[in-house]
Amino acid sequence: MDRPTPKARGGTPDQLTAHTRDVVTHYTARHAFREDLFGRQPFANYGYWPSPDLSFEQAGERLTALVAEAAGVGSGDQVLDVGCGYGANAVCYARSYAPARIVGIDITELRITEGRRYVSEQGFDRLIDLQLGDATRMNFGDGEFDRILAVECAFHFDTRRQFLDEAARVLRSGGTLALTDLIPCIGVDPQNYMNGYRASASGVCLDIAANAYNATTYTEYLQAAGFVDIRIDSIVDKTRRPFAQALRRLAISSAPARATALLRVAERIERCCEAGEDYVLVVARKA
Ligand SMILES: C[S@@+](CC[C@H](N)C(=O)[O-])C[C@H]1O[C@@H](n2cnc3c(N)ncnc32)[C@H](O)[C@@H]1O
Repeated sequence: MDRPTPKARGGTPDQLTAHTRDVVTHYTARHAFREDLFGRQPFANYGYWPSPDLSFEQAGERLTALVAEAAGVGSGDQVLDVGCGYGANAVCYARSYAPARIVGIDITELRITEGRRYVSEQGFDRLIDLQLGDATRMNFGDGEFDRILAVECAFHFDTRRQFLDEAARVLRSGGTLALTDLIPCIGVDPQNYMNGYRASASGVCLDIAANAYNATTYTEYLQAAGFVDIRIDSIVDKTRRPFAQALRRLAISSAPARATALLRVAERIERCCEAGEDYVLVVARKA
């Protein structure tokens, strides 16, 4: 079903910061080669790998379930899925947790267009509404949502702290926020963390210095935004590291050009882990 071009909520493209425009450029360019690299599947995350014999799609589902369960998503909830990508997280929430409504926002228009097609194919048109929008300036009412979920995207936001303040505003009192995120490990120099390992295959630096802080500072920002019961747990050994290993296994059975590209991604991820980058699950409740 064709739909009109998505309209931005909370900011038109010309209001985006230079960093956020770079992020959009990256994800738009990435669309053309992600299927060649990782196969046709709707997740755009590293996945959660309790065992190595999963497909990328199964690992993406596991990561999504981990976030939903950490937030306590349940029947009748109003859910906001931030950085919703191609709609795969939202479809998982719809299938498994019977929420009343899911609104997904993403800043990359191509992802919203493709995501709407995927949601429709999966039969969730009436439950899931994907919209173009910026996580740092959300055009929703105060206290509109019971749960806010954000799988693997907050490190992009300009800034993450602004998003945390916005999340606290649009979440009802007692509602929960759960997300996965990339941060420097405690003791790692933020400057080293920003040292260029993270420049993407499309040549864009996807990180900003304003977001290069560890779990201690992250906790302080969550508290300042009005969150309590905060947990930040490292899950890097079940996410980025096994994802890189899965790429290496796939490279063995791939044609040379694809194998080279897969190994390049695996090496970049492994270098980031060695340089002190953590992958964390963050959970908090609005007081
Ligand atoms: C690694 S992908 C994760 C997508 C999806 N959550 C998943 O698990 O498949 C990161 C997503 O964050 C989105 N994003 C980045 N900056 C954003 C912003 N400021 N507001 C909303 N979405 C943003 C990107 O467009 C991209 O789709």
